[in-house]
Amino acid sequence: METFDWKNMPFGYVKTDYNVRCYYRNGKWGELEISSSEYINIHMAATCLHYGQEAFEGLKAFRGKDGKIRVFRSGDNAKRMHDSAEGIRMAAVPAALFKKAVFTAVNLNERHVPPYGFGASLYIRPLLIGSGAEVGVKPAKEYLFIVFVTPVGPYFKEGFKPIDVLVCRGYDRAAPLGTGCYKVGGNYAASLASLELANNQGFSTSLYLDPKEKKYIDEAGPANFFGIKNNCYITPESRSILPSITNMCIQQLSKDIGLKVERRPVLLDELSTFEEVGECGTAAVITPIRKIVDPDTNKIYEYCLDGKPGPVSTRLYNKLIAIQNGDEPDPYGWVEFV
Ligand SMILES: Cc1ncc(COP(=O)(O)O)c(C=O)c1O
Repeated sequence: METFDWKNMPFGYVKTDYNVRCYYRNGKWGELEISSSEYINIHMAATCLHYGQEAFEGLKAFRGKDGKIRVFRSGDNAKRMHDSAEGIRMAAVPAALFKKAVFTAVNLNERHVPPYGFGASLYIRPLLIGSGAEVGVKPAKEYLFIVFVTPVGPYFKEGFKPIDVLVCRGYDRAAPLGTGCYKVGGNYAASLASLELANNQGFSTSLYLDPKEKKYIDEAGPANFFGIKNNCYITPESRSILPSITNMCIQQLSKDIGLKVERRPVLLDELSTFEEVGECGTAAVITPIRKIVDPDTNKIYEYCLDGKPGPVSTRLYNKLIAIQNGDEPDPYGWVEFV
């Protein structure tokens, strides 16, 4: 096994041994190819470069105490990438090809899967791009699907510690009827200015409001938002947020511990009524929020006053990572062995 300072792994790119690739040409997908190059050779008129025909995914593999490698909910990422592809008119990757590519990439880079017990995992990044040349605005006729992997630590250097978030009204990551519900690069490009604004003022990330009325909460940076009050787990429903697979897990785990679950529009004003709030995603796992600052109204919403994550968030976090690492049974079939 590769040796790193596993305890202090950043969430960043580390070269691994292989990636896998598959080309879509003449209306069909070809054979999966294995590559040891980190580079792609691409036509300068490829639609991904000019018109943003690009979608990606993010999922993780974990090494358990038993040494076995577990890939988490890859079928749901395959579905979401399918939706993203259709959303921006790209050739969709069939679920079986997606799975084969993910499992092959993990297998080939087995020595880069972090050992159990350090909070590190193997991040898997499937990527689909329009590779065919076009000059007019239209979908490409050729596509490239790649899966690469890289070992990572926690997304926020704090780990499972509360972060501070800045409400962002000056920028939207997606339009009301735009591509916010797809995992496409343009949404992330649109988020960089507000992220920089938040980071420059000492905040970990920005909180996006609904792009139409700016009254409801959409997302917290590259993660979904949730709040907890009166034994209820509440998470926003909106046309412009990405359907988070982690959020789906947490909704189920919340029901399992006897919470009610509500997925509905969440007014920004409701922030003052929550007992705990946080964000969730593959990279963020569950990240509790300590403070949300709204610079336009001068309101400050504070949680975790003792500096520690709230009890419900902690319980949900522990349960989720226990299933991912294989420490607790997986009653929902979320985990697949490599
Ligand atoms: C914008 C956005 N929202 C939410 C999420 C969380 O989704 P998931 O839990 O599937 O990783 C992500 C990360 O994938 C994201 O980029």
